[in-house]
Amino acid sequence: MNARAPKGTADMLPDEAGAWEHMQRTAQRLFARYGYEPVYTPIFEHTEVFTRGIGEATDIVSKEMYTFQDKGGRSITLRPEGTASVVRATLEHNLGANGQAVKLYYAGPMFRYERPQKGRMRQFWQIGVEAIGMAEPSIDAEVIVMLMRYFEELGIPRSSMRLLINSMGDEACRPAYRDKIAAYIRANSAALCEECNRRAGTNPLRAFDCKNPTCKDVMSSAPLLRDELCDDCAAHYSAVKRLLGDRAIAYAEDPSLVRGLDYYTRTVFEVQVDAGLGSQNAIGGGGRYDRLMEQYGGPPTPGLGFALGFERTLMALQAAGIAILGLPVAEVYVARVDSSLGAAVFALVQELRDAGIATETDHQARSLKSQFKQADRLGARAVVVVGPDELAAGEVTVRDMTTKDESRVPLGELSERLKRLLG
Ligand code: HAM
Repeated sequence: MNARAPKGTADMLPDEAGAWEHMQRTAQRLFARYGYEPVYTPIFEHTEVFTRGIGEATDIVSKEMYTFQDKGGRSITLRPEGTASVVRATLEHNLGANGQAVKLYYAGPMFRYERPQKGRMRQFWQIGVEAIGMAEPSIDAEVIVMLMRYFEELGIPRSSMRLLINSMGDEACRPAYRDKIAAYIRANSAALCEECNRRAGTNPLRAFDCKNPTCKDVMSSAPLLRDELCDDCAAHYSAVKRLLGDRAIAYAEDPSLVRGLDYYTRTVFEVQVDAGLGSQNAIGGGGRYDRLMEQYGGPPTPGLGFALGFERTLMALQAAGIAILGLPVAEVYVARVDSSLGAAVFALVQELRDAGIATETDHQARSLKSQFKQADRLGARAVVVVGPDELAAGEVTVRDMTTKDESRVPLGELSERLKRLLG
């Protein structure tokens, strides 16, 4: 048997899992202030949800999906992202009935069969939001502001992030532009890689994303959609930029930002960091998808959202020297002088926990010395020592592990005294 986790996956051990929970709690609190509610969709969907939503010609659909037949012969795919599922669920449950605006957030694992490298996993974790039913540029700006606020609230300095934005146009202006880029690729065919040449016939805009230096060079002189937007898209894009400017959100326009999913229309954005992540430097990204609901047979419904990657965000935090910690597991350690005091200690530990103090104790009949070592290892701020004489007097000894001060405390005052000590 192979007792290792599959390639491209990682066990989330307590330190990282604590950071993941902290990131989720921070998201819950912040996103609620912006009107978002949680949603959980299945981790697998009918394959069509992704092929239709994300697009057959994208790398995700054509190369990276975990697709299999279930025992009933249905084609099932592990979700490579959350947007398609959330839009499918919004339509299925009629959440946007009568033009109702819907604001949802989610968190969980996503699956893409990619070549693993730093910041690129086959199972990775995302937190995302989808704002469905709203077309005004103010919601684009609000979503972007919230994403930047989120990263700041986690502790990533604003100065170390780069917000890139672009407009992908819509059905009025993009088709002609796509044709133009396809023609440009064909005209420069000799200089471009095989993949980019193939893209001329399938998904020409993706040539902007090619990592090959020669292709990058050729594509840097290609016509830009920014210059070909229809009046409505141009006005929408200008309004988004104006609103971001009003909130003093620094951004850079990147006319070659096309993103890897076909559902985008109009605003797209990405947040990048330099955290030794190389080409995997996008910690989050998103955009508008005003035609996606119709792909699933629903009514025309605008929408937009973003997703951020847990692993890359954690790396950005580490690069900024910020440790995010999970909840404390042992603020207080209760040690006993001898094992005959087990029942009293058992009761005391439960009382402290009921009083809201994270409390740990020994269940391995350790010596007092090794109980103190254990308390130190767990990072306890105080040790409560229970001894027979003190207990007979209705007291315990409390040792402040920072100052090393010790004092006798009546049992009736213990939880209050500890809370004060813990601040
Ligand atoms: P995405 O850009 O494909 O967008 O992914 C969002 C974020 O997920 C990326 O910026 C990155 O941090 C993380 N990520 C993506 N792939 C991997 C991977 N293989 N390993 C580690 N992290 C990864 C979406 O998924 C869209 N659904 C975002 C969206 C929501 N657009 C509109 N609404």
